Amino acid sequence: MSPKENFKRFLPESVYIDFDHQEELLELLYQNSWIPASDKIVSVEKPGEGNMNFVLRVKTNSTSIVIKQSRPWVEKYPQIPAPENRIAVEATFYQEISNDNFFHRYCPAIIGFDKKNYVLALEDLGEATDCTFVYKKNSTLEDKDLESLVGFISHLHNSSIGYRKTFPENAELKILNHTHIFKYPFQEDNGFTLDAIQPGLQAASIPYKKNSILKENIVPLGDVYLQTHQTLIHGDFYPGSWLRGKTGIKIIDPEFSHFGRAEFDLGVMMAHLKMAQVESRALTNVLELYGRPQGFDNQLFCGFCGVEIMRRIIGLAQLPFDLNLKEKSALLELARQLIITKKETPLFK
Ligand SMILES: Nc1ncnc2c1ncn2[C@@H]1O[C@H](COP(=O)(O)OP(=O)(O)O)[C@@H](O)[C@H]1O
Ligand SMILES: [Mg+2]
Repeated sequence: MSPKENFKRFLPESVYIDFDHQEELLELLYQNSWIPASDKIVSVEKPGEGNMNFVLRVKTNSTSIVIKQSRPWVEKYPQIPAPENRIAVEATFYQEISNDNFFHRYCPAIIGFDKKNYVLALEDLGEATDCTFVYKKNSTLEDKDLESLVGFISHLHNSSIGYRKTFPENAELKILNHTHIFKYPFQEDNGFTLDAIQPGLQAASIPYKKNSILKENIVPLGDVYLQTHQTLIHGDFYPGSWLRGKTGIKIIDPEFSHFGRAEFDLGVMMAHLKMAQVESRALTNVLELYGRPQGFDNQLFCGFCGVEIMRRIIGLAQLPFDLNLKEKSALLELARQLIITKKETPLFK
């Protein structure tokens, strides 16, 4: 069955968009008044690497916009079902921040949301690469980029944006994420072929999968993740959601956002900086610059940070790391310490 047929099976009333169906795409753009009625499509292209959704850049005679469609599966792993309504969460996030001038500097403006077709239209931020280059040896993020990133989450976590009672719970997507962050990576029989990623990685993962004390410490972290809390968070604050263009750092892809714990965003961010081997001085800077919201729990931050390191190394959602087995093993051990000691000192070893 083609992806389009599969899509129609789940969502018969919705338009399926891709690079090959430009007439349907044009119709959708007109219907939503996202482009002037006189415009024609000049080109469509993939704007960059994505994970969960179908994303394209469409250029017309007068404009260029980015179109994002969520489908009932994970775009990169079509065998994994995912709630198609996640795009509505992303749309809500962009709508909520659109009244706050601070965010204009960092996020694309929302052009429109087509609920029926699960399509979001965003301002095109132009040619920009995501920051996953940071994992490469000898490449790093400049101080001003790190300052932008930490400034962004500080502002978000301390703002009164959104209203907890009306913001989507994002429960289905959180459950999916919870499974891949807090559960699967630590199951001995999870079926991931880690040796295909790096010979020896499977053996390196076993002591952690067999460590019952470690696992007992991870369960409550997962429970906290699943609950609703006071703070609107981005929910996927890692280099794949950070774009670097001509005018500096931009932040995209808030589909995992929810009212949760600020510690999750900061923990994930620090985990990735550590896996990217960003120097200790810069890590210290980030922790100093971050404006902790009221009730910030450092132990929780350490736990989330440790779990994120582990799940990225021994879980399914792998990244283009430039790390040998020894370095990965050291990171796993560091992550274990973060989770068990609940102190941030291992980050600076
Ligand atoms: N508004 C935008 N302007 C320019 N490029 C974008 C924009 N939104 C996304 N992109 C590019 O498309 C890629 C995939 O988009 P993203 O929102 O991360 O999709 P996914 O949810 O599938 O991960 C990004 O890494 C980026 O390169
Ligand atoms: Mg993405």
